[in-house]
Amino acid sequence: MGILPPQTAAALQRTAALYDRVKSVIPEMEWAGFAEDVDAILRLKAERNAVILAHNYMRPEIFHAVADVRGDSLALAREAAKIDADVIVVAGVHFMAETAKLLNPGRTVLIPDTEAGCSLAESITAADVRALRARHPGVPVVTYVNTSAAVKAESDICCTSGNAKKIVESLGVPEVIMLPDEYLAQNVQRELNAAVAVATPPKGGAEPSRPIKLITWQGHCEVHERFSPADIALFREQNPGVIVLAHPECPPDVVASADYAGSTAGMIDWVGAHKPARALLLTECSMSDNVAVEQPETEFVRPCQLCPHMKRISLANIRAALENMEHEVVIPADVAAPARRAVERMIAVR
Ligand code: 13P
Ligand code: SF4
Repeated sequence: MGILPPQTAAALQRTAALYDRVKSVIPEMEWAGFAEDVDAILRLKAERNAVILAHNYMRPEIFHAVADVRGDSLALAREAAKIDADVIVVAGVHFMAETAKLLNPGRTVLIPDTEAGCSLAESITAADVRALRARHPGVPVVTYVNTSAAVKAESDICCTSGNAKKIVESLGVPEVIMLPDEYLAQNVQRELNAAVAVATPPKGGAEPSRPIKLITWQGHCEVHERFSPADIALFREQNPGVIVLAHPECPPDVVASADYAGSTAGMIDWVGAHKPARALLLTECSMSDNVAVEQPETEFVRPCQLCPHMKRISLANIRAALENMEHEVVIPADVAAPARRAVERMIAVR
């Protein structure tokens, strides 16, 4: 690198140990552009008594250099319930910041970019949930966390991709409305059917038990709906021996063609436990970079599907959030109380 301005050189020196951690996925030249923001964010976190919650889809310079809590939606919600800090910055999308606020009504929760949305959250409104309830009286509503607080407020309980089957089963009823991700619901329905098939052997006089029936909505994740079984076949052909892991927001035929399906944390744990020589993560781009830092023995095949919403979060806007205390998440009390109940009921299911 040529001559650097003195403040950049000083920041590079102070963040050298952090760079060491991510150097396999971030070129040195690029890190030179990040070091001052990383350095400032670390200082501001201490000054503000702030913590940063980062979803697994954050870029590696956020995920590995400035985040305090990292994980999938379930882990972020669980950890948010335990936080002891004055300020929480959510490096993720808006529904994640709302969940953190629901669980921390007395703390300041900031989202670095208010436009960081989610195609699933945008697919359904509170009025839609009320209409569904009217059409299916008495059927409980399980809502994916990828929804607005107003939609959560109309629900009985929330779920994430990491606990959806368990949450549905915890209700102990024959029929459940599961919103808004059609593919997640279809993938959970397949698991419920399979569990009943195993529990009820074909022979014998016992009446076969019926699987729980899920009533679904037409929401889709704009990132995961892009994958297809044909992609998987091509990747397998081009990368012999590759292990394919899919997120359950992918269409059911994609999940059926994969070797494993699970939440983002589920995929990370699977790679850590099985240490495959080659893996393909059918999910958002940054996951492979983030996992590669911790699993250097696995070669990641990287089909890049970016989530434009997650990618709105950057070191620069995290720094601005902490400098200017922007943008505070506010949820009206009449929405917050029932929405909090739905999230807390989910967290209580073990
Ligand atoms: P996870 O809960 O698996 O991290 O998924 C959240 C998400 O937005 C996936 O697209
Ligand atoms: Fe929403 Fe899909 Fe982006 Fe996750 S990856 S935040 S589900 S649009």
